[in-house]
Amino acid sequence: MAPTPTAIITGGGSGIGFAVAEFLVQKRWRVLIVDVVESRCEQAAQKLGCSCATADISDYDQQVQVFEKAWKEFGKLDFVFANAGLTDTFPFYKPVAAYPPPRPDLKAGDVNFTGTIYTCYLAMQYFRRNPAGSSGTLIATSSGAGVYSAPPIPVYAAAKHAVVGLVRAIAPVLAKEGIFVHAILPGAVATNVVDPKSMEGFGDTIYTPVGDIVNAVDALLLGEFAKAGITGRIIEVSRGSLHHRDQPAYCDETMASVMQLLAVADEIKSTNTGDAVSGIKL
Ligand SMILES: NC(=O)c1ccc[n+]([C@@H]2O[C@H](COP(=O)([O-])OP(=O)(O)OC[C@H]3O[C@@H](n4cnc5c(N)ncnc54)[C@H](O)[C@@H]3O)[C@@H](O)[C@H]2O)c1
Repeated sequence: MAPTPTAIITGGGSGIGFAVAEFLVQKRWRVLIVDVVESRCEQAAQKLGCSCATADISDYDQQVQVFEKAWKEFGKLDFVFANAGLTDTFPFYKPVAAYPPPRPDLKAGDVNFTGTIYTCYLAMQYFRRNPAGSSGTLIATSSGAGVYSAPPIPVYAAAKHAVVGLVRAIAPVLAKEGIFVHAILPGAVATNVVDPKSMEGFGDTIYTPVGDIVNAVDALLLGEFAKAGITGRIIEVSRGSLHHRDQPAYCDETMASVMQLLAVADEIKSTNTGDAVSGIKL
């Protein structure tokens, strides 16, 4: 019998993370839910009958404790969902009353950017610790604000763009170790992160059901993408449909040459080639 698959889900105390945790528990995975809000974390874990760890993902030492806990409990790690996030709360554009301007509150960057990079880095290192050697799937939650302009939430948008950049950078490198890496970019999902007032006037049709996000994770982790051995997908999820977002075309031959110099190996010249690398397709 195949060993029970295992997962760490950050931001699993509510919304998208909780829905993905519920989906995996129903499939008999062992799941460790991580959330900064202790009550959410514990209630979610109790409801699903899985483990939990209260931690702030923007604190590296706390995340190390999370991964160590998962390792002690599971002895292997198959999937990490780098999903915890929050939106901007700092009034970025507000004129200051006096100069010099005080330091801005970059919490949205600390969590969505730094915290997500910590999660992805630790996922890579713990996948390498797996008994069967390197393997595992990492999916990071970006956002529509990770590819489009989102003026009211500039720090969040910058961080979510960074998540796309991170996935595009690391997917070809980790493909060679049998580690799959993707990003999902949800549209508006009715969870705690969305201020309903900001959506007033659009009606319910503006929302992407959370089940669509679960379906995207399913497709990447277990479904058609996984079965086809595909990595490095940047998937927008918008109300019933998935759209793969290729990197932009190079502006000219010079830029193409410069960026291809940064490619990680001779056999990887572009993340758009569709070529197979060590059995995993980019
Ligand atoms: N809901 C949307 O419309 C939408 C759209 C695009 C992207 N996203 C992204 O989806 C992800 C999940 O959000 P959601 O919509 O489920 O919202 P949510 O608020 O319901 O869930 C996010 C969870 O992350 C937790 N969290 C926040 N900061 C944390 C930290 N520092 N450490 C650990 N946990 C922390 C929160 O406590 C919360 O339980 C986020 O990254 C969010 O940016 C959401």
